[in-house]
Amino acid sequence: MKGLILSGGAGTRLRPITHTQAKQLVPVANKPILFYGLEAMQQAGIRDVGLVVGATHREIEEAVGNGRRFGLKVTYIEQEAPLGLAHAVKISQSFLKKSPFVMYLGDNIIKDGINSLVEEFRVRKPNAMILLAHVKEPQRFGVAELKEEKVVRLTEKPKKPKSDLALVGVYMFDHNIFKAVKAIRPSWRNELEITDAIQYLIDKKYEVHSHIINGWWKDTGRLEDILEANRIILDSLESKIYGKIDSKSRLIGKIRIEKGAEVIKSTIRGPAVIGRKTRIINSYIGPYSSISYNVTVNNSEIEHSIILEHSTVDNLSHRLEDSLIGKNVYIGTSPLKPKAYRLMVGDNSQVGVI
Ligand code: G1P
Repeated sequence: MKGLILSGGAGTRLRPITHTQAKQLVPVANKPILFYGLEAMQQAGIRDVGLVVGATHREIEEAVGNGRRFGLKVTYIEQEAPLGLAHAVKISQSFLKKSPFVMYLGDNIIKDGINSLVEEFRVRKPNAMILLAHVKEPQRFGVAELKEEKVVRLTEKPKKPKSDLALVGVYMFDHNIFKAVKAIRPSWRNELEITDAIQYLIDKKYEVHSHIINGWWKDTGRLEDILEANRIILDSLESKIYGKIDSKSRLIGKIRIEKGAEVIKSTIRGPAVIGRKTRIINSYIGPYSSISYNVTVNNSEIEHSIILEHSTVDNLSHRLEDSLIGKNVYIGTSPLKPKAYRLMVGDNSQVGVI
């Protein structure tokens, strides 16, 4: 069985972060989202993975390489424009050939992995298997209608959803999917929808199984989803301290501190991760914080936030919460008079002030 991971999308809902970085490389608990998918493939016994990439190809290839460090062999498949998930399958035919495969959307995280699902597909050998999950806002997803456990209809982002069962971004197919992706037409958003391709299989009486997952799953398209994913992953963190903690600092709860990090006169209340060579000075880091590498936090309080590499948080008079801060960002109290907010904020940013 082969794997196909889609990592092409533009990440418009995560701007401005995605102006300069692929959304699949935004870290959750200091690990790029895409790596969770690669690891899930490896754990499910898959070795040969096609990675569909678009405009951010170079950056993704730099992070993943040939896949060896994940125990995988990764082949890059270039998608010249984001023309839909079914289009990604179409252009991957020469890589997938006749092999059954697992398709995994590179911005999805499934906490319990995919081992048992892949096993079920291997044993029962349907033509396709989809995963479903009960969600609060089904109109944001592909939605399934079931009749006595059988999928009868799939609709992409319906205005009036017929159920609360969303299509999770992991699918299993045999080669019949190629007929389907060639037969369908682009949707209103001008994409070849995988949802329509699976509907084609259903209409043509192919065997399409569905599996409702109960474990936690997230499509990390928006800021609140990234913060939630960060919370869930940090909850199962193992404490490990490689960095230096001075005698005036306190660590409470589950905390990982990477090599070369320094905690000076500070309190860290986990779950939290502190990246390589990051310095936390005279500060408080609260639960559900992921601080990346080479960050400086000085005289400030941070909680429930993700701070990316090479950034500085300096001398804040109020706590920073529910935030995603990009790379090379400086946030600090300005010493200049008159007292004022002084900002240089990129396009599509959100700033909340007190
Ligand atoms: C895609 C699929 C949708 C599915 C979702 C899961 O949506 O089209 O059916 O429910 O992924 O993450 P998109 O991310 O393209 O909006």
